[in-house]
Formats: sequence, structure tokens, C-alpha cells
Amino acid sequence: METDWFDVKSKLDAIFYELSQEIDGFTENFRAEIRIADPRFGDFQVNGILSFAKKNKKNPRELGAKLFAKAQQSKNLANCSLELSGPGFINIRLEPDFLQRWVCTFYNQCDFKHWFAGKTIVIDYSSPNTAKQMHVGHLRSMIIGESIQRLLKYCGANVIRDNHLGDWGTQFGILIMAVKRAQIDIFTLNPEKALDTFEQLYRDGVALTKQNESFSAEARRELVALQKGDPENLYIWKTINETSYRAFDEIYKQMDVIFDYVLGESFYRDQVDSVCQDLENLKIAEENQGALVVFHRNHDRFKDQPFLIRKSDGASNYGTTDLATVLYRWENFHADTMIYVTDGRQQDHFQQLFLTVERWFSAKNIPLPQLKHVWFGTVLGEDGHAIKTRSGESIRLKQLIDEGISRALATVNEKNPDLPPLEQNEIAHIVGTSAIKYADLSQNRTNNYVFSWDKMLSFDGNTAPYLLYAVARIHALLRRLKISPNEKRSPKVMAAFSTTEELALARKLVDFPATIAQVLDDLRPHYLCTYLFELASEFSTFYNANRIIGEATDVFEKRLLLCQFTLHVLATGLYLLGIQKLEQM
Ligand code: ARG
Repeated sequence: METDWFDVKSKLDAIFYELSQEIDGFTENFRAEIRIADPRFGDFQVNGILSFAKKNKKNPRELGAKLFAKAQQSKNLANCSLELSGPGFINIRLEPDFLQRWVCTFYNQCDFKHWFAGKTIVIDYSSPNTAKQMHVGHLRSMIIGESIQRLLKYCGANVIRDNHLGDWGTQFGILIMAVKRAQIDIFTLNPEKALDTFEQLYRDGVALTKQNESFSAEARRELVALQKGDPENLYIWKTINETSYRAFDEIYKQMDVIFDYVLGESFYRDQVDSVCQDLENLKIAEENQGALVVFHRNHDRFKDQPFLIRKSDGASNYGTTDLATVLYRWENFHADTMIYVTDGRQQDHFQQLFLTVERWFSAKNIPLPQLKHVWFGTVLGEDGHAIKTRSGESIRLKQLIDEGISRALATVNEKNPDLPPLEQNEIAHIVGTSAIKYADLSQNRTNNYVFSWDKMLSFDGNTAPYLLYAVARIHALLRRLKISPNEKRSPKVMAAFSTTEELALARKLVDFPATIAQVLDDLRPHYLCTYLFELASEFSTFYNANRIIGEATDVFEKRLLLCQFTLHVLATGLYLLGIQKLEQM
């Protein structure tokens, strides 16, 4: 089979487009919009006829019939059975012979590297503010960002992972004031407790500023002094940052998250003034009540809600830093695309940032990189409100992850009491962290979701334990047969796929490339989760109904091939979600 059939969906897209161009009534604006179909009706469906007909005031039934007639004669579609359905839909079913050739061709050359080859993509994720512990609000950026960066890399992009710490903001004015007032020698703080101490001092500082305006003024002065390079303030700032990062790093290690760069806001501190200057010179930014702002006068909301880039006290802010960061990423990383993974509440910020960059880069004659804000909803408690501890505080991320691991350990111990403790711990670590990751990634990222230990740790349903178990089960089979997962099978001695379960499983495997394409389209990993869950379920049906051990060679070979391919796709899929597989559970 030719390699351009690897992604069947996009191949069909191209074929139907080409056919349409030979038909009177279609124009080059037609898109076939092939979708993965409900298996009761077919494998794929041509969807674009109805919308095209509507837009162009044509009869969809007629256009559909013409395209259908043309398709039936196409040699390219000889391996598909076609059916005209409703006003302008065409159902496509792949013939068993096609499915088998597809599986035999691609089981050992399932490669996406050419999709994004030559692209440089900076992805900005996790990016917590320093001086505090990470809490549950920091979970999603880390998990979603990690999965997206793996997907992009898997498809061949040159990915640059940048943790843009919030390490230069107003919290430091308050904190430095509190440290000085408490007369603590931070040098002598016990490193284990230092972050707690800083958090307490921060709370004390906030209380002071609420008590009396003079404290707010003092905190602002400390911030300005820090930003101007006052050595004592810089020393306090640096100590706090280092303490924070040590704590963050523990979490990154636990969650298997790695960055190429950790260029926090402070990294850009010497660049912000020139950004403001530049935008002023280019007449993009203007003075407004003592501050420097950018109005987007063609925008409904932003025409009266400007983008602030310098506060009236002269301090730069979040916006200024992000502008400097875009320029830096363009000049130093030559990024074609920049992706930001944050909470949905920052949508306005990023829209204003992107609009400003568009005008700024166009004035400077710099080609505009693609800028994408990948935002997400909130993690809710079982009561439907933002998840909190009993006393109403944010749950610390470390505590949450540790709890996941210890709950998983209890289950492992119950199911497998004879396993040595070391192995139990290893399994529990993977199951616990994976459950948390998967529960998050399996939800459409723009929705809120309810955090439920019972659901995410369950072995039934669309969960990490279910998928990990499916993978371990195939590994167990291969171990029993003494066959390595990558061992080649020989299509020549294979019987034809014939049972319903074999064919259904092969069909699901064919959808893998289309699923990856769908995930990348809008950077939504939940499509991959749904797919993996369906694949694992299909596999389980197959495995329960189709014997492998003891079958004649031709049957054994084809079924084993399906097992090995399924294992490859499941393990790859889990990897792309940031999840380490287990060979034994
Ligand atoms: N530090 C910010 C926060 O905690 C997120 C930063 C996201 N990245 C960026 N370039 N603005 O909300």
C-alpha cells in the first residue's frame, strides 16, 4: 500500500476534492470534510456537500448524487464501498482486504515525523508564580502543556519548552516588605520550611496592606527598588525564587515534566523599557492617565478597555513582559508558532497581547508567528465549586499528587499483596500520577471538570488504570509467547481478517492518524483519550472472542499482528498523554 494512505481520512479528503473539481456545480472552495463515522453507517463520511450547497444556493441532493456517481467509478476508491445517504452525505466503508493491507503496511511504520518537520514551536506551560507553593490551580497547565508538547514533538516539530515563571510581580513588593518587617535572616531559614515561612509572611504582608494605605505604598516602593536593582531586595528575591523552584522541581520530577528553558518574567526585566519605547515611537501605545496603554479601536470591547503596558508609577507589568517575551522568542528561537497554556480567565490578556503583537510586528516588518492561547476550565470539587480544602484554602499540588499515589498503593496492595514493596511502590507511583493526568486530559480542556478520586482510580471506564491494564495485558500475552513487541510478522503467511472482532479492531487502528490530526487541529488531547479508550475496549472484545494460542500459523500470525499493533498504538497514545506504561500490573 502506498504511504499516502497512512492517514486515510486526509487521503479521502484529497480524493473527493479532486473528484469534485471535475463536476459541474462544485468550485475550488469545496471541502469534502471527511469525518470518522458512526460504525453502524460506515467508517468515514463525506460531510462537506450540505454546507457547500447551502452557501452556494445549490441543491445538496443533486450535488451529492453527482459526486457519488463519480466516486463509484474512481479507481482510487476501488477498496471502499460507498453509499449515498440523505441530502448530500456519502458513507464510506473500507473493504476487509483494504483494512488488512493497511494494518500490514503500517504496523511497523507508524510515523508522523513529516507532519511538522521544519517547524519551530515554543510552548509556554506550567509557568506558576514563585513565592508560593503550587496548588491545584497549577495542575492543568502542566498536564495539558506536557501532553501537547509531546504530541508536537512526535509529529516532528522542533519544540522548545519554556517555563515562564511569574517571578517579578507585585507579590515581591509585599513579601520583601514583610520579610524586612519580621526581621528574619532568610539565610538561616530551614530549607524544608522556608516556603511555608514565605507564604505566611506573604499573608502577613497582605493583611498589612489591607490595614493601612501606607503599607501598600511601602510594598510598592520595595517593588520599585527591586526592579531598579537594590542589592538587599535582589538578595531576598533570589532566595525566595530558589526556594520556590526547588519545590516546583519536586513536582515536575514526580509528574515527569521537563523544560528546556525556565525564563521567568525577571529574565525580561532589562527589555521591557525598550518595548514601551518602541511601541510609543511607533504610535501603537499612548499615555492614558499617567499610564502607557494600547487601545484596539476596531475591537468591540478593547476599544474602551486598553491593554496596560506601563503602570502610572512607572512599573512594567504582565503585558509588557509578555510583549518582550514574544520578541525574544522570535529573535532567539525563530519560532513559527508560540503556544500559551493557561487558565481561561486569561483570555482577554492573550487576545490583547496577540492584537498588539500583530500591529507591532507588522510595523517592524517582522513576519507574524502563529500565536495560540490554549486555555482551560477549572477543577471543581464534588460539590461543583472550585476545589478547596475543608478549611477553604487551595489544595496544594504536592499533597494532591501524594494522595493519588497513596490511594493507588492501597489498591495495588489489595490486588497484588505478594508483589515486593518496591514494585508495589513503582506501580502505585505510575497509577496514581497517571490517574490524575488522565482524568484531566480526558475532559475537553475548555470545560470545568469534577475531581473525583473514585472515578479516576477505577479500573472500569475511560480511566488511566483501565488503559494501563489493557497495555499490561498485551505485554503479558507476548511474554507468555516469548515474542518481543516489535518483532516482525509475516503478512505472507497470514489468513485474511475475517471475524467481526478482527475487522472492528483493524478499523479502529486505521483511525489513529486521523485522531492525531484531530487532536493537533485544536490542541485538544481529550480526542486521543476517547480514541484510546475505544481502541482498548475493541481490543478487549477481540481478545475475549478470538483465540490466539493454539491456532494454526496463518490465524495466529494475523491475530498476533493485531495485538502488537494495538500495543504500539496504546503505548504511544499513553506516552503522548505524559503517561508511563506498565508492562506488569
Ligand atoms: N504566571 C502566570 C500565572 O500563574 C502564567 C504565565 C503564562 N505565560 C505567559 N507568558 N503569560 O497565571
